[in-house]
Amino acid sequence: MPKLTTHTLRKLKGKQPIVAVTAYDAITARYASEAGVDIILIGDSVGNTMLGFETTVPVTLDMMCHHAAAVTRARPEALVAVDLPFAEAHYGHDRLLASCQRLMQETGVDAIKIEGGVELAPAVARIIASGIPVWGHIGLKPQQVLALGRYKKFGSTPEETESLIADARALEKAGAFALLLELTDHEAARKITEAVGIPVIGIGAGPHCDGQVLVAPDLLGLTPGYVPSFAHKFADAAAQYHQGFADYAAAVRGKKFPQ
Ligand code: KIV
Repeated sequence: MPKLTTHTLRKLKGKQPIVAVTAYDAITARYASEAGVDIILIGDSVGNTMLGFETTVPVTLDMMCHHAAAVTRARPEALVAVDLPFAEAHYGHDRLLASCQRLMQETGVDAIKIEGGVELAPAVARIIASGIPVWGHIGLKPQQVLALGRYKKFGSTPEETESLIADARALEKAGAFALLLELTDHEAARKITEAVGIPVIGIGAGPHCDGQVLVAPDLLGLTPGYVPSFAHKFADAAAQYHQGFADYAAAVRGKKFPQ
């Protein structure tokens, strides 16, 4: 399969549902790519899924570089995007450009995902002009969770829906090649998806988006504790891990391994 690009991805809108998944290491990226996913995202969800943080807020640019470089070493055929971490997008142009440049050059990713709507559209337009492909992220923006005080659903009122449509249009105008729409009312998600010509990839935003993204440990059944209700478990990898470790321990203690 030829490598998916921002150009070929855009052509999938309205034709074929887009499949995106997170990965934070080379092995997971390899399995996801072999399964034929369209997009691999090195999400800053690495913070709460793999690194033991409560939220994505403590995740730094160094951490994102470390994990993104591991993913690209798997040479996936999927389009690979990385999250710009907490607050980075809100500095001035020079620092924002330097952070994006570092992510692109040090890790070899194909694109950068940035949380933010209308307020960030001018900054997004400037970095896209530098040749950096941007995937916008609207609806629930988990980097805002401490300011919001909780994870909440968006688009439940006509005003919120209008505001999300304005975010989506502003990012499309700025040149974003796609949008991620998180935890948003399904009907609002349909209107947002119809309002723009670029693909809208949803998570907890219902069936009317152009594609879906899930966090790999959630879909593989590896996340201990709280898993968002919209995250469907497609495998029970935790059970396999438990079994594998327990069998190994039993074999060593029973002097059955090594033989
Ligand atoms: O960081 C992440 O994993 C995300 C999810 C919403 C896919 O942005």
